[in-house]
Amino acid sequence: MIKLAVLGNPIGHSRSPEIHGLFAQQFGIALDYQKVLVPEQGLAEAVAELVRQGARGCNITVPFKADALALCNEIKGGAASLGVINTLDFSPDGAVHGYNTDAQGLMTDLKDHLQQSIQDRKVLLIGAGGAAQGVVSALIGEAPETLHLWNRTHQRAEQLAGLSRSAGLQAKTSAQLDGQYDLIINATAAGLKGSVPDLPSRIIGPESFCYDLSYSHTETPFLQWAASLGARHRADGFGMLIEQAAAAFHIWFGLSPDTQVVRAEIAS
Ligand code: ATR
Repeated sequence: MIKLAVLGNPIGHSRSPEIHGLFAQQFGIALDYQKVLVPEQGLAEAVAELVRQGARGCNITVPFKADALALCNEIKGGAASLGVINTLDFSPDGAVHGYNTDAQGLMTDLKDHLQQSIQDRKVLLIGAGGAAQGVVSALIGEAPETLHLWNRTHQRAEQLAGLSRSAGLQAKTSAQLDGQYDLIINATAAGLKGSVPDLPSRIIGPESFCYDLSYSHTETPFLQWAASLGARHRADGFGMLIEQAAAAFHIWFGLSPDTQVVRAEIAS
């Protein structure tokens, strides 16, 4: 039995055990994937405990993605510059390797599943917290025509734009958002509290593709708002969740699960 876990607070809502269970079934792997509720300052102890138990690794979720960086012996695949980690892989000698598969998850969902290209399009990223930080470099790498960043606290958007050191990424205030965007990605935590970022309605038109990194059983508040303004194409982050999980599964097992099958199994 191979042991894995997802560490976060809160954690009750996590779909990761179900998703990884379905991936493991595809390969006949016997998996014990637990949800672990970690107290505020308890990440290091929770990770050490998993290592002691001989776990293969774990996923890290809100609010520990930045804290996880300090626990890694080695940081892989550009995750160091992102400053946020969502996957830990434990080697047999107990060394901890950190990765971030969120950006890959978003890109696979947007490009392969939803057929949304980013190149040469006018893109707005909303939010400047850990979630936005995790995907901003991947968006820059796709060479959008413009990439604007808006955050409730503008100074934080300026900071993230400065950190990324890309001339293509510009922090904008509400007044500076000019016209409609082709692709709008909500990376704020506003939806968790049932609210929508206070953005001007002129940014959304019928052809604006609106994507919410959060997901829920009913349409998220941000996507409901987009729909009320006439946006015809919308998707929540459930596809990203499945794709980031597939990338983590590949890190642990060297195997690529069929995500289409899992999307269908979970949706039904
Ligand atoms: P996460 O790791 O989920 O990104 P975070 O680092 O705490 O969490 O960041 C939360 C993000 O959601 C921030 O961009 C935050 O904006 P502020 O920097 O102004 O705090 C944003 N956010 C949270 N609640 C919001 C709300 N009601 N409206 C707009 N943005 C909100």
